[in-house]
Amino acid sequence: MNQKSMNPKNILVTGGAGYIGSHACVELLQAGFRVVVVDNLSNSKTESLSRVRQITGLPLTFYQCDIRDKTALADIFAHEDINTVMHFAGLKAVGESCAKPALYYHNNVYGTLALTEAMSEANVKQLVFSSSATVYGESGCTQYSEHFPLGAINPYGRSKAMIEDILRDLSAADILNQAKAPWKIALLRYFNPIGAHESGLIGEDPNGIPNNLMPYISQVAIGKLAQLSVFGNDYPTPDGTGIRDYIHVVDLVKGHIKAIAALEGGTFESGGCKAYNLGTGQGYSVLEIINAFEKVSGRRINYKIAPRRAGDLAECFANPELALKELGWKAEKNLLDMVADTWNWQTKNPQGYASVEAGCASTEATG
Ligand code: NAD
Ligand code: WQD
Repeated sequence: MNQKSMNPKNILVTGGAGYIGSHACVELLQAGFRVVVVDNLSNSKTESLSRVRQITGLPLTFYQCDIRDKTALADIFAHEDINTVMHFAGLKAVGESCAKPALYYHNNVYGTLALTEAMSEANVKQLVFSSSATVYGESGCTQYSEHFPLGAINPYGRSKAMIEDILRDLSAADILNQAKAPWKIALLRYFNPIGAHESGLIGEDPNGIPNNLMPYISQVAIGKLAQLSVFGNDYPTPDGTGIRDYIHVVDLVKGHIKAIAALEGGTFESGGCKAYNLGTGQGYSVLEIINAFEKVSGRRINYKIAPRRAGDLAECFANPELALKELGWKAEKNLLDMVADTWNWQTKNPQGYASVEAGCASTEATG
């Protein structure tokens, strides 16, 4: 046995109240896991967790806690019988990370160090980590495989690359020291997660004006924002606009469940730390996304062509073969599913979770 005898179905989800984390909670609960969420609510609301309970009809346990608070984490590990951690907690805005790099390194890098120390002390050494395609940087490629060189170009991306390095080093040390219970770590490099749960009860609820394309389009369609700026139409792509690998958030979180199974299986039998791309392998341009949104919503998206955004690549999509081979996972939903579920969430929650929180003081999701 690699770990102390714990219930393999007990999962700690950091950042579980956030966009991707809340979708992961639904999938985990529906797959029979017991879920304990740790979130400091710096970019989320407990309403998302209430909705998770509404979708699944199942309880989950919630701790409002910062992952940098090692004492609090140690207490949680002492009281909950945790087997594996899914680590979503982190700050993710590229622009903000350029303005406040220390905040990003402290929150994301130090936060992960504190988490892994608490895990190690509790002898919990299975981890699924939210990495990002942004770690690849500008290598001049369009389709990225896991062995490609890394080169993040902003503090947010570098925080993810640093965490990957730390996790690889922790794992390598255990293998070198022939540890009895070595780290087993899956680094999941997400491409561009979009969409929402098909119920329309949970989805992406960005603070302020969205940075990312899909929530921006969605808010233009609903009338919250007047006009989308298309950042550049002079890229060397068929229609001149940037191409990305958009992946449905539900497909993405299913990849996490597969990763847990892989950590328990043969690939990770002797421990290890491996990166997997989670993308569809198919790229779409900004104009293709706008067209799909107009088709699904029946609304016209008011847009103008604007200058390129600093730091943007022309084209970036995944080679998802390794995840298929080793995790047995591949994305199943298509672009119209992604757009339809985004629009369903947007129309059912025009103000995101805000309106509900304002009128409902107690939404504690402890169950
Ligand atoms: P999100 O902001 O919706 O969720 C992150 C959650 O972590 C939030 O609920 C926030 O309150 C919490 N959190 C942040 N710092 C914390 C801390 N110190 N202690 C406890 N909780 C903390 O973001 P998301 O889109 O759900 O992203 C989840 C993870 O996936 C992040 O690590 C992000 O970097 C990564 N990721 C996201 C994308 C994307 O496009 N959404 C792409 C690649 C990687
Ligand atoms: C997609 C395309 C833009 C907004 C970012 C982060 C990355 C990862 C995912 C966390 C690009 C264009 C966008 C707009 C536009 N996050 N666009 N008008 O930049 O691929 O990745 O989110 O890890 O780290 O950098 O996603 O949605 O911002 O942009 O024309 O108002 O849409 O130029 O071509 P990106 P995005």
